[in-house]
Amino acid sequence: MPRKKIAAGNWKMNTSLEEGLQITRTIANANKDTDVNIVLAVPFTHLKTIIDMSLNVPNLFVAAQNCSQHKNGAYTGEISAEMLASLHIPYCVIGHSERRIYHNESDEQIATKASLLLENNIEVIFCCGESLEIRKANNHIEFVSQQIKNGLFHLNGDQIKNITIAYEPIWAIGTGETATEIEAEEMHSAIRSLIQSNYGKDNADQMSIVYGGSVKPNNSKSLFNQQNIDGGLVGGASLKSNDFIEIINSF
Ligand code: PGA
Repeated sequence: MPRKKIAAGNWKMNTSLEEGLQITRTIANANKDTDVNIVLAVPFTHLKTIIDMSLNVPNLFVAAQNCSQHKNGAYTGEISAEMLASLHIPYCVIGHSERRIYHNESDEQIATKASLLLENNIEVIFCCGESLEIRKANNHIEFVSQQIKNGLFHLNGDQIKNITIAYEPIWAIGTGETATEIEAEEMHSAIRSLIQSNYGKDNADQMSIVYGGSVKPNNSKSLFNQQNIDGGLVGGASLKSNDFIEIINSF
């Protein structure tokens, strides 16, 4: 079975509900026949409305951008995996560098979130990626491998099938600077080998590994052409429907 191709948009804390609906409509209308899985990671406030809209479009999926590491209880302002499941949300992003950095999220918390989501039948988009400092010191592969071991390696072989890894070098997020396709492919291939070493070749071959960090229409084709790059997690360009449609069409 070929690996899933994924074009995921991460809207972060942007768009009113009306703007979000407009983007979703435009993307849904333009991509009815694609074999790419389009995933829109939208703000919590938009989830219910956009999931209702996505149900009529076979290749369009909705993701939450985060969930709590707690099951339930006195955690004011938090949203649990169980709550997302009650809306039938199919995907959730965890471990985004903006959450790791601004909210001090640890590998352990992210590992717990992964377990809670999978228990609730929600597929996980697990983000990892190194800072510029780490890349300059040539420790990027070791660093990202450790993030993956800490965040995912408590899962069993059946669970790992429901994980997509998003490699997002921090120095490329929102900066207009992208990893070259060679830099990105080097990391993706290292990630796949790491998965293979722990979960076997079949699981590694089946896992979608996507790249994020200033993916734009002018670089998506060369990135997605790489053997181990199965798509993108797109921030800024996913808010411009035409750019995102071009990115979807560049597979
Ligand atoms: P960017 O964001 O495409 O704006 O760099 C990517 C991300 O943070 O997921």
